[in-house]
Amino acid sequence: MSRMIRHDATRPALISIGDKVVAVCQCGLSQNKPFCDGSHRVTRDEEPNKLYAYDREKKRVALDDLFPDPGAEKHSPPGGN
Ligand code: FES
Repeated sequence: MSRMIRHDATRPALISIGDKVVAVCQCGLSQNKPFCDGSHRVTRDEEPNKLYAYDREKKRVALDDLFPDPGAEKHSPPGGN
């Protein structure tokens, strides 16, 4: 069984444990979870409100056509196209 899980974060959470700071992955792309491995860097130029997927080589694919945002129409300006 597999699942698609949406992650919006583009950087790790920094957690202080004693005198150390640990970076915990929030982007979902780390190969060393729960720790950040720097893979979030590929998300830096994502456009807001777009949906993407990444393959094992961190190649990005836009998924908006497959999974349109059901709330997008609600936020369109009146009379806009
Ligand atoms: S936050 Fe996911 S790899 Fe850094």
